[in-house]
Amino acid sequence: MGPAPPSPARRGSAGTARDAQPPAWVAAAAEAKGFMPPAEGMALHLAALEVLGRLGGPVLEVGTYCGKSAIYLGAAAALGGSVLYSVDHHRGSEELQAGWPDHDPEVVDPLTGLVDTLPFARRAIAGAGLEEHVVLVVGSSATVAGHWAGALSMLFIDGGHGARVAEADFAGWVPKVALGGALAVHDVFADPSEGGQVPYELYTAVLRSGEFEEVGREGSLRLARRVVPGDGAAKVWV
Ligand SMILES: C[S@@+](CC[C@H](N)C(=O)[O-])C[C@H]1O[C@@H](n2cnc3c(N)ncnc32)[C@H](O)[C@@H]1O
Repeated sequence: MGPAPPSPARRGSAGTARDAQPPAWVAAAAEAKGFMPPAEGMALHLAALEVLGRLGGPVLEVGTYCGKSAIYLGAAAALGGSVLYSVDHHRGSEELQAGWPDHDPEVVDPLTGLVDTLPFARRAIAGAGLEEHVVLVVGSSATVAGHWAGALSMLFIDGGHGARVAEADFAGWVPKVALGGALAVHDVFADPSEGGQVPYELYTAVLRSGEFEEVGREGSLRLARRVVPGDGAAKVWV
């Protein structure tokens, strides 16, 4: 199963522009719980399509939550004949726990009292028709990265925003981006009054490595491309 095929109008045959319907995944992305504004989601989608057209190979995101960004990336993977691996322990970051502004009591499992976003993510991905193109990987990002051997055509980092977790994402995943591959980071705010600084520090460390060049911005999303091979990026955090 994949995203709905384009309507006749979108294929440029008998239909008119008025007949054109957005594919079903667009509505599914809008409905999913999460933290990805539509313009940033579409920027992610287009970046993934672009890199899949050049390189192929898997896309990986850190931070599934309830599947919102996974729909944008998964739809690109479906169109590009690839797959998205979406990694999350589904227990929520520190800032998603009870007492924090972004906490959502609906995602607490009543049996355990713990955050469990996995059922929401599964439902969202199935509702978008993307189960064949989005593989949900349940586990700590550092653990999965430590056992992950293959190169990535695109990496999207939107996991824990604490320094220790982000540093592990940086060290564990950034070296796996293929030459010419894409790296996207969310919640990058240069101004501390707009948001926490850890994703900004991660992103600036990526650029400082000299291995990546910025290729796009949308809201708090930053997009870069690997221009130099190597794993030196892991050495330049601070
Ligand atoms: C900001 S949310 C992701 C939002 C999502 N990308 C969206 O589109 O709505 C961050 C997610 O990262 C996950 N996370 C935080 N630390 C993690 C870690 N060390 N390993 C795996 N997942 C982690 C949390 O469980 C949470 O679901």
